[in-house]
Amino acid sequence: MNQELLQAATEIAKIGGHHTLKYFKKNVEVISKADDSPVTIADKETEQIIRKEIQKRYPDHGIIGEEFGRTNEDSNIQWVLDPIDGTKSFIHGIPFYTTLIGILIDNEPQVGIIYAPALEEICVAAIGEGATLNGEPCKVRDTEQLEDATLLVTEIYRFKEMDQQEVFEELMSKTKLHRTWGDAYGHMMVATGRADVMYDPILNIWDAAALLPVMREAGGVFSDIEGNETIHSGNGFSTNKALFPEVKKIFEAHSK
Ligand code: IPD
Ligand code: CA
Ligand code: CA
Repeated sequence: MNQELLQAATEIAKIGGHHTLKYFKKNVEVISKADDSPVTIADKETEQIIRKEIQKRYPDHGIIGEEFGRTNEDSNIQWVLDPIDGTKSFIHGIPFYTTLIGILIDNEPQVGIIYAPALEEICVAAIGEGATLNGEPCKVRDTEQLEDATLLVTEIYRFKEMDQQEVFEELMSKTKLHRTWGDAYGHMMVATGRADVMYDPILNIWDAAALLPVMREAGGVFSDIEGNETIHSGNGFSTNKALFPEVKKIFEAHSK
């Protein structure tokens, strides 16, 4: 089942993600959503295209999409969609945005697709089937000490907003290199051995659903700040298994 769904989700993410390129670097109008985050016609059309493809193949499956909400809420198989993750990158012409598809079976994340169309990189996984980047197996790198680690985040100000300034300071002071423009692409960089820790203090289910299977199958961990492997906590970090206990300890030390 996972294998079949992985293949279908990969195909559908490619169709959807490819559509975003029609608008990338084209000065599309940016609309502000109720939560003040930006959205464009590319986000909306892409989610509609993905929904149509899912409904064509699996009319009974449920869908949870960032832009158009839920259908078939009672199905035990739920497709969780973020048509453009990193809309801020997208509207600035930065290619680090991704199209995300996660599939939950009985509420457990089983399949994850992270597709960066402007970079032609697709990282996919299904539980028990391994993780790949453009068809080749991928895995986290084996950094063992935080002092050698590269830390990624999405937006520095988020830490202040979430009253996590001290966590950020400690993560920064204990790691070697720090970079931003993270979003899901940051987690994908960890899953493909190009960075070591990626943390995002604010996540919705559609931001996180694809990440957990990819991280687990790449030999790493996607976890909330309490150390639980879940997509439901509203925050999440990715890292390898060697660094996980130390990163978790930093969050614990500052938990309020
Ligand atoms: C955003 C990204 C980001 C997270 C934000 C999301 P969007 O998604 O996932 O990493 O911190 O909370 O809103 O809006 O670009 O799809
Ligand atoms: Ca998102
Ligand atoms: Ca989005």
